[in-house]
Amino acid sequence: MSFPDVMEKLVSLSKRRGFVFQSSEIYGGLGSVWDYGPLGIELKRNLQERWWHAMVRSRDDIEGLDSAILMHPRVWEASGHVGGFVDPLVDCKFCQGRFRADKLQDAQCPRKPSKKPGEHSECQLTEPRQFNLMFQTYMGPVQDEASIVYFRPETAQGSYVNFKNVRESSRKKIPFGIAQIGKSFRNEISPGNFVFRMREFEQMEMQYFVAPGGPPAAAAFEDWLPRRKAWYEAYGVTPARLRLREHAPDELAHYAKKAIDIEYRFPFGWKELEGIHNRGDFDLSRHAAASGQNLEYFDPATEEHFTPWVVETAAGADRAAFTFLIDSYREEQVKGETRVSLALHPDLAPYKVAVLPLLKKRPEIVALCHQIKDDLKRDVMAVYDDTAAIGKLYRRQDEIGTPWCVTVDVDSLEDGAVTIRERDSMTQERVGVDQVKRVILDRLTAARP
Ligand code: GAP
Repeated sequence: MSFPDVMEKLVSLSKRRGFVFQSSEIYGGLGSVWDYGPLGIELKRNLQERWWHAMVRSRDDIEGLDSAILMHPRVWEASGHVGGFVDPLVDCKFCQGRFRADKLQDAQCPRKPSKKPGEHSECQLTEPRQFNLMFQTYMGPVQDEASIVYFRPETAQGSYVNFKNVRESSRKKIPFGIAQIGKSFRNEISPGNFVFRMREFEQMEMQYFVAPGGPPAAAAFEDWLPRRKAWYEAYGVTPARLRLREHAPDELAHYAKKAIDIEYRFPFGWKELEGIHNRGDFDLSRHAAASGQNLEYFDPATEEHFTPWVVETAAGADRAAFTFLIDSYREEQVKGETRVSLALHPDLAPYKVAVLPLLKKRPEIVALCHQIKDDLKRDVMAVYDDTAAIGKLYRRQDEIGTPWCVTVDVDSLEDGAVTIRERDSMTQERVGVDQVKRVILDRLTAARP
C-alpha cells in the first residue's frame, strides 16, 4: 500500500464508518464543508480535550476563553483582516475556473488535469485581483454597509480584545497565555483534500503574552515550538512525518514577525499542521489605538507599563483529526485476509472498549456483556455489538481504532472471567469480570503521555 493510496481508503472508511460526511450530502454537498459523524465527533472531542488539558488544565500560566464568533466589525479593521486578509485570485475566462495566483503550481487545469492553469492552449487567465477571505453577513434587520459583521477567520482576536478582562479577572502576571477552541471561517479559493482545507473549521489557538522585545518572545517561541511538535508525537504521529518549516519574509502573514510551521507529510505533500507565530505587539497595539482603551500591562517588579508581545500556537482541530486518522491507518495480511486497523492512541480512539458476545444466542452471555458494558460506560466510551461472528466483530473494531475488545464466552458463565483482546498486538488476556474496568482504566492511564 503506498502512502497516497491511504487518502482514498480513508475517505471511504470515514464515510462508511461514520467519521466524516459531506455537508448537505442529499443536496449534492456544499463545497469544502464537512460534518462529523458519531465516531468523528468522538475523535475530535477527544483530541480537543487532550489539547485543552495540555494547554490549560495542566498549567498555571494559561487561562481558557470562549469568545463569540461574531465580533464588532472594527475588530477586523484594527486587526488588519479587512484590508490584508486576502489571497490573489485569477479567473479563467475559458473554463470559468478560479485559482489562487500564488498557488498555480499546485492546481490543475480543469480541462486538462495534467497541465497547470494557464498552460493549456485555451486557458485565458485574468490578471490577479485581491480576494478577501472573510465571510460576512448582516446584523439586525437592515442589510446595508453599516450592519456588516464578519464570521471570524481566527479565534486569536477574541483573546486579544479580552486580554484585559482575562488578566484582571484571573490576576495573571506576565508571561501568561489565553487558550481557545472554536470555529473559524474562511472563504478559501482553493479548498480541498477532504478536511485539510475547509471553509468552516475549528481552531485550537493559544496566545502567550510576554514582555516586549526580541529575547522574551524568542525564549517563548523556543519553548513552545518543540512542545507543540512533541504533543503530536505523544499521541502517536510518526516523528519522521513531522518537520519544521520557517516562513520566508515574503510568506509571513501581515501580523507576524516570525512564523514556523509544524508540517506533516500528508499523502499530497508536506503541509502545515500548526503554526507558531511571533506576533510582536501588532494586535494589542492596533486594538489599543483603534478602541482608545489602554491595553498596557503594568509590571510591579520593574514599575513599567508596556504593551506585551505575543507568541501564538495556532492549530487546527480538523487538521489534527485528519492527521491522526491518516497516520494511524494500517493494512496487514492476517490468515490470508486484509486486516485494516487504526492504531489510534487510546485517549483519541472513539470507543475505548467494545464488549462482544461469543454466542449471542445465550441470553446469559448477552446479559453479562451488557452488565460489563454499562459499568464501563460510567467512565469510558464503550459499545456492545453482536451483529456478526466474533472474527468480523474484531475486524470492525480494529477498523475504527478501538484499543480493547472484551469477549464473553460460555466459560465466562462458569469461571466469571472474560477475554480482553488488544488491538495492535491482537494478544488476549483472561481477567475476572470484576477486574475488567480496573484493567482498562489502568491501561488508559499507562498509555497517557
Ligand atoms: N491565528 C493564526 C492563524 O489563524 P493560520 O496558520 O492561518 O494561523 C492556524 O491557521 C491553523 O488553523 C492552521 O495551521 C490549520 O491547522 C488551521 N486552518 C487554517 N485554515 C484552515 C482551513 N481552511 N481548513 C482547516 N484548517 C485550517
